[in-house]
Amino acid sequence: MHLSSLNPRIEKVQYAVRGELAVRSEAIAEDIKKDANSHPFSAVVACNIGNPQQLNQKPITFFRQVAALTEYPDLLAPENRPTTSKLFPEDAITRAETLLRDMGAPSIGAYTHSQGILSIRRTVADFIRRRDGDAFPTPDPNNIFLTTGASSGVQTVLGFLIGHPDVGVMIPIPQYPLYSATLSLYGGKGVPYFLNEKEDWGMSVVELTESIAAARAKGTDVRALVVINPGNPTGQCLSRENMQEIIRFCHDERLVLLADEVYQVNVYDPDQKPFHSFRKILLEMGEEFSDLELFSFHSTSKGVVGECGRRGGYLECTHIDSQVMAQLYKISSVSLCPNVPGQLMVDLMTNPPRPGDVSYPQYEKETKGIFDSLKRRSTMLSDAFNNMEGVTCNPAEGAMYVFPRICFPKKAIKAAEEAGKLPDEFYALAMLDATGVCVIPGSGFGQEKGTWHVRSTFLPREELFDDFIDGLRNFHQEFMAKYKDE
Ligand SMILES: Cc1ncc(COP(=O)(O)O)c(C=O)c1O
Repeated sequence: MHLSSLNPRIEKVQYAVRGELAVRSEAIAEDIKKDANSHPFSAVVACNIGNPQQLNQKPITFFRQVAALTEYPDLLAPENRPTTSKLFPEDAITRAETLLRDMGAPSIGAYTHSQGILSIRRTVADFIRRRDGDAFPTPDPNNIFLTTGASSGVQTVLGFLIGHPDVGVMIPIPQYPLYSATLSLYGGKGVPYFLNEKEDWGMSVVELTESIAAARAKGTDVRALVVINPGNPTGQCLSRENMQEIIRFCHDERLVLLADEVYQVNVYDPDQKPFHSFRKILLEMGEEFSDLELFSFHSTSKGVVGECGRRGGYLECTHIDSQVMAQLYKISSVSLCPNVPGQLMVDLMTNPPRPGDVSYPQYEKETKGIFDSLKRRSTMLSDAFNNMEGVTCNPAEGAMYVFPRICFPKKAIKAAEEAGKLPDEFYALAMLDATGVCVIPGSGFGQEKGTWHVRSTFLPREELFDDFIDGLRNFHQEFMAKYKDE
């Protein structure tokens, strides 16, 4: 094989989150391992990806206790129970036993049902009912597919939509590049719609209408709309009214709605901007919208769980035709089953310890600790960017990122051009070299022409945050001074 003989779509795929910046940061980390003085900092800080445990976020104890017991079931054998009971709380032991029993196999090393373990799908259904309220029926577990992270669910659904090269899917700009990358891979067309930075990155129906009209005029067969809520990289939480408008738009335009809701727990001002699921708003809108097809995605990677490496998630189908559901089941079977440790993590995320359970106080303390700290860090980072020369940054209402806009001096833009880089790439590379902080240029997510951004997570540990921010501030000052226009 060589590049010229590959499926040409492969080369077209772009995924900035793990692109040039990330590759360079890995090389720097290797240098530092060999020689601690090789760079002007002692470690690389990976703010390029929402990967909380990479930056030392502690896993939730109860979740790992259950995971440990399911990984090594000998701990549950009668002869080992006395020792196990000293090491593990009773509710973790019971949960591990229940999960192993419900799997229909004595080990998590076995394939499960292709759609995911039924009892876990029931647990997810119950979670959705509790989240969205009793006004609506509990979802049918047959409409839920456990997935190997939300990514695999998204890819499956996009694969279902793209039947020919003219199929288009509306995607936000800026967007999490899973969508554009998968569309390139499957040979579909991304139909961009811009989020409105001046309105806290909200969605405008006027913009959606113009975007779809322009795409259809060029012969694109627009079939679906992707919404990321809360947003990545933009962090916005959509209001109920905005969601209703989006649903009406999809209904009028006969679009399938893909709701990426992986950050539903990362909502930092829930009194002002609560999270609503698209499922809830859709069902509230009643019978008239009962033919709007909705796929909703959730994940164990985000929230306060942060178990990215376990690859757990689920996909919920609302108003999807039964024959399409049968095909979804068939395609899920082709890869046998979703990753099993991820399935178990979905169970734990959607049915954590409750008040009265032995593990509840610790669970509550840990999750509240992580959530409160994320909220504080999000404010600290957006405030820090807002205090830098030429930078404006909307506060993160949700998710794990800030996306500041940077107005570069002309001299910096020229220097970037000479280096063969876009200005935001040039800036992010300079930041990495000076501070070890790896952020992603806004061009990797898409941005309005003539505007420049970077995306940074606010995941560095809180005790290191002052130093982290000082490093960014000093770098920015030096960068702006170096390229100051005469
Ligand atoms: C908006 C969005 N969707 C999906 C994913 C992928 O999640 P998972 O780890 O569950 O595949 C991410 C990861 O960062 C994301 O930001």
